[in-house]
Amino acid sequence: MVLQNDRKTLSFDHLSELEHGACRVSGTEHHSSDASPQASRRDFLEDGSKITMLSGLVLGYGTFGYIAGRYLYPKDTSEKPWQYVARIEDFSPGESRTFESPEGVKVVITRRENTHESGEFFALSGICPHLGCQVHWQGNEKRFFCPCHNGAFDLEGNPTLGPPQKANQSLPRYPLKVVRNLLFIQV
Ligand code: FES
Repeated sequence: MVLQNDRKTLSFDHLSELEHGACRVSGTEHHSSDASPQASRRDFLEDGSKITMLSGLVLGYGTFGYIAGRYLYPKDTSEKPWQYVARIEDFSPGESRTFESPEGVKVVITRRENTHESGEFFALSGICPHLGCQVHWQGNEKRFFCPCHNGAFDLEGNPTLGPPQKANQSLPRYPLKVVRNLLFIQV
């Protein structure tokens, strides 16, 4: 009876301890979340620093991902505005002109036929992809020529001679459109 009473007492004490966060391991009593003000403050500070560290990591990786994305996936040229080039009647078939954008991008625009459609014009980068020299249109050869290492490209910018051909380096192409006999480029 006494034992029962003791057990009841122990059981009640144990429940009481559990309610207050105490636990007993191998006969040693530990108060894991001591209700003392210092312990509460320490727990609070530890939790706060963990949250701050986690937020810093998330922010850091997020910023890194954004910057890497900008470099890996540059902006689509379709977002760029169309820029006026010339009236197409002022652009003779077989003629080639160098167009420079406000940002300083040099483009060689060539007209091959006289059909008044944007498909008869080609706009290619004026910079050789080999080592960056300026390319020139040679109307009699119908090719773009780079004098630095005798590189050449056909009308569509495909490499046909020299180091660009060996490395299979083409001239980048830019979109063109004709609206009411006016030629526009996106660069
Ligand atoms: S820079 Fe054009 S062929 Fe070398």
